[in-house]
Order: sequence, then structure tokens, then C-alpha cells
Amino acid sequence: MLQMRLPANSRITKGKVFPAATGAKRVKKFLIYRWDPDAGANPRVDTFEVDLDDCGPMILDAIIKIKDEVDATLTFRRSCREGICGSCSMNIDGTNTLACTKPISDIKGDVIINPLPHLPVIKDLVPDMSQFYDQYASIKPWLVSTQKLEPDTEMLQSHAEREKLDGLYECILCACCSTSCPSYWWNGDKYLGPATLLQAYRWLVDSRDENTNERLDQLDDAFKLFRCHTILNCTATCPKGLNPALAIAETKKMLLSRKGR
Ligand code: SF4
Ligand code: SF4
Ligand code: FES
Repeated sequence: MLQMRLPANSRITKGKVFPAATGAKRVKKFLIYRWDPDAGANPRVDTFEVDLDDCGPMILDAIIKIKDEVDATLTFRRSCREGICGSCSMNIDGTNTLACTKPISDIKGDVIINPLPHLPVIKDLVPDMSQFYDQYASIKPWLVSTQKLEPDTEMLQSHAEREKLDGLYECILCACCSTSCPSYWWNGDKYLGPATLLQAYRWLVDSRDENTNERLDQLDDAFKLFRCHTILNCTATCPKGLNPALAIAETKKMLLSRKGR
């Protein structure tokens, strides 16, 4: 795993101010976290003044405008710009969310943007997601079945079976939930976190999957699953409106009922 952690004695300093173009009438300030591991300097917060009359409506529009027109070194992830790829997740105005679906007009006052919390920073708004993806891979996020199907045939589900996947399959693995979870902040190396646990539950309730017992065995662990203390930050922050805390609670119930409790 990449380890781009800040030096122990680092502190965030005030950075540069980039004023809006002359004549701009509707100016909004964007205060953005900056850190470049190659520069050997403390992180800083740069202030970019953006003319909202010459900018798209979403936070991502403003960040792209800043990168295109003001500072090409500003580093962030994005791809789909419509809430599907999950790559533009960051902390905006104190909440983890997607920059592409967050309207600038939602934020009164200055817009404060930081990388997702409690992950090592690679550069600026780009966190190292290696551990998060390793944890996701650990739950075997694919269908396990011994059924032999003829080519061009489908493995059918009833409507009721398919409905059990609603509220789960929509997860875009943006990590907003996991990085808002205090249990994940303090035990992220051992606790799987709400995103991975929601995904694990998605396979547990898939009627076509034959690996249920092994999946439950793997989760039956004081840290991997039971470090969830039902704080509910995860559900409050999910930009897709999903409920990872409920998926975790249902997984605990499955484990307990298997034990006959
Ligand atoms: S409900 Fe569980 S997973 Fe969600 S924020 Fe709380 S401790 Fe974390
Ligand atoms: S549950 Fe929501 S917040 Fe968590 S990774 Fe999936 S889409 Fe993102
Ligand atoms: S750019 Fe894809 S979710 Fe925001």
C-alpha cells in the first residue's frame, strides 16, 4: 500500500489567494486543501475566487474551471460527472459527498474542500484508496455458483428475490460512508467499514449465490463486522441515499440466527 503520510510535525498553513477576473460580479471563494509530497512543504489551503456567472452549477464544475484556468497543478479524481463512477468523492463543507452532484448553491458562504478524511493523501484531493479496495476484494464481490448454464441462458430470479438487491446494487464504492465512520477511522486496518460490508450483504442476499455460509464465516469477527457501533454517520452521508448501517444490522442478524440466537 502507498504510504504518503504527512510528516509528524506538519501543520496546515495559509496558501495563495487567486482573485477572480476583473469585473466578476458573483464571486464565490473556494478554500481547497493542497499538498504535494514532492514539494517537501506543509499542506496549505489555497483560496480561489470563482465567478459563478461563468461557471457550471456543481462543485466539480468549479474545480475543473480552477484547474483549467487558474492552477493546472490542482489534483483530484473525476470521470463520469453524474454520480456513477464514485471517483470525485471528497469532503465538501464538512460532509463527504460527490463533487459532481453537489450544487454550489447548497453552500452558504465560502466552500471548504478537503480530501476524504482519515486516508493517506497522495496529492491534494486524491487519497490513497488501496486499503479500501483490498478490503472490497476480500469479500469476493462476485457470484459464486456451481450451476452449469447453457450458453445464452440466464440464471433467473423471482421478482421478490431481485427486489432484495435494491438499495445495495446502486453502491458506487465512493467511500464517503467508510471515511465518515469513526470505527473505520480508528480501526480501518481491521474493520471492513460500511461500504465493503454493504457490498458483502449484497452477495449474502443474492438468491443465486451459493457461498452464503463461507461469506458469513469470513465476517464473523470481532473487528471485521462487529466494530460497527451503529453510529449511523455512514447512512447520513451516502450521496446515493443508501443505508449501509441497515445492511450491517441485517448481516449481524443473519449471523445470530445461524447460531440459533
Ligand atoms: S453505523 Fe456502523 S458503519 Fe455506519 S458509521 Fe456507524 S459504526 Fe460506522
Ligand atoms: S454505500 Fe453510499 S457512500 Fe458508501 S460507498 Fe456505497 S455509494 Fe458510497
Ligand atoms: S465524477 Fe463520477 S461520481 Fe462524480
